[in-house]
Amino acid sequence: MRKIVIAIDGFSACGKSSTAKEVASQLGYSYIDSGAMYRAVTLYFHQNYVTIDNPKEVSKAIDEINISFNFNERKAFSETYLNGLNVEGEIRKMYISEQVSRISAIPEVRKNMVSQQRKLGKKKGVVMDGRDIGSNVFPDAELKIFMKADLTVRAERRQAELLEKDQLIPIPEIEKNLVARDKMDSEREENPLIIPDDAYIVDTSELTLPEQVEYVLQLATEKMIKYDG
Ligand code: CDP
Ligand code: CDP
Repeated sequence: MRKIVIAIDGFSACGKSSTAKEVASQLGYSYIDSGAMYRAVTLYFHQNYVTIDNPKEVSKAIDEINISFNFNERKAFSETYLNGLNVEGEIRKMYISEQVSRISAIPEVRKNMVSQQRKLGKKKGVVMDGRDIGSNVFPDAELKIFMKADLTVRAERRQAELLEKDQLIPIPEIEKNLVARDKMDSEREENPLIIPDDAYIVDTSELTLPEQVEYVLQLATEKMIKYDG
């Protein structure tokens, strides 16, 4: 069957990446976590004390950043590398979550990331999750999903995830971060988080992960049949 592009956008911690990963694995597609790319850029800016309102420093930093994904056979998922170093654990930490929306709002950062993401999806057969995938990176994506969920549900899910990595963060702190990021991501000038007109909206508050995956797979199959003919 003809390969398609599946764009999964939405708010933080709704289950976008978990769903995207499983859908990609079941379809034999590649999975690209666009948020990991912005997180890696944020880590680089943090480590190198890049002044974000200095365009020269920002340009220089962007030129020095090389992001790649390598499949970890043991863990069965792709990990993020920044200039050859595995940063998968570091980029998920709270101090990165607290800075990432400011960095991802910088037009030059977005221009560069979007261009890399388009290259990664050029051959189709890709599931990409983020904020502007269906609206901006792949406006012609055959399937667009927009995920949302109740704030407390999202914070509890994120807390459980961080706890698995030995980071105990109180729910109010996580909620504060999610709300702040949703606001910044939705209100920025460049490629804000919006719901594309042709997206399927999925509220995951009361769904299980397998239910979400099943729903997206069902839609993907319908689209593949449609675009095959
Ligand atoms: O996993 P979580 O939902 O917490 O966030 P993420 O997908 O890792 O994305 C981290 C941040 O990167 C978001 O809050 C956005 O500021 C930014 N981002 C973006 O601007 N555009 C994308 N396509 C993906 C992420
Ligand atoms: O990518 P995004 O930030 O939207 O969310 P995620 O990282 O995929 O999901 C956050 C956590 O919620 C993960 O640990 C998922 O396993 C969990 N979860 C979910 O995604 N969907 C459910 N229905 C229940 C839990």
